[in-house]
Amino acid sequence: LARGALSTDLAGRRVVISAGGTREPIDPVRFIGNRSSGRQGYALAATAVARGAQVTLVSANVELADPAGVEVRRVGSALELREAVLAEAPAADAVVMAAAVADFRPSSEAGGKIKKTGAAPAPITLVENPDVLAELVRERARADQVIVGFAAETDDVLENGRAKLARKGCDLLVVNQVGRGRAFGTVDNQAVVLGRDGTSTEIPRGPKEDLADRVWDLVTERLSR
Ligand code: CTP
Ligand code: CA
Repeated sequence: LARGALSTDLAGRRVVISAGGTREPIDPVRFIGNRSSGRQGYALAATAVARGAQVTLVSANVELADPAGVEVRRVGSALELREAVLAEAPAADAVVMAAAVADFRPSSEAGGKIKKTGAAPAPITLVENPDVLAELVRERARADQVIVGFAAETDDVLENGRAKLARKGCDLLVVNQVGRGRAFGTVDNQAVVLGRDGTSTEIPRGPKEDLADRVWDLVTERLSR
């Protein structure tokens, strides 16, 4: 299905997409964050709207304009993202977890700004965040709900991707093959989408909208089964 083609194969479908990267508070002015721009999640939202879906975007710290026709819920931390996604998921035909969710958060948030004291700084202890994708699978609202995860791997992409897919239990896992220092970028940004049903779909390097459309192709196939 070409981008821009008139298509309404997601008409009447509700989809929830998480995008961006969470920020885990250390104190009122500091956080642990990541470099996710949110572009892939926003491209998924825009392409889903173009195909007729009703879209809710759970957006974590993204500096992009709201895509037209999308309901945007802004969140900061992984716990906030979890609450928003789990609240929206039961009504959704498909949930796509494109957000970079922090694996760990500071075990407590200081009530006031942490100050220098002249002594060695106190260590920041971390605790693990809940795995939202795994929870979505456990609490799957409907048998035919399609749940999609994203992953970036540098080595043994297919093997690691398969293992992650099995661990998470989602229906599709979009595995980004990210280059290592010596690969000179030849395989950067290529993705393979692994299906719980054993399928494997290569997506050539290209704009994030193209990757998004290929993902929706795979989602719609599974919705109409
Ligand atoms: N994810 C999630 N909740 C978390 C961590 C990750 O929902 N606490 C989701 C991400 O949004 C993504 C998928 O899980 O869709 C895979 O994330 P990834 O970081 O690759 O997997 P992890 O299970 O966290 O494993 P790793 O140790 O490789 O980071
Ligand atoms: Ca992780």
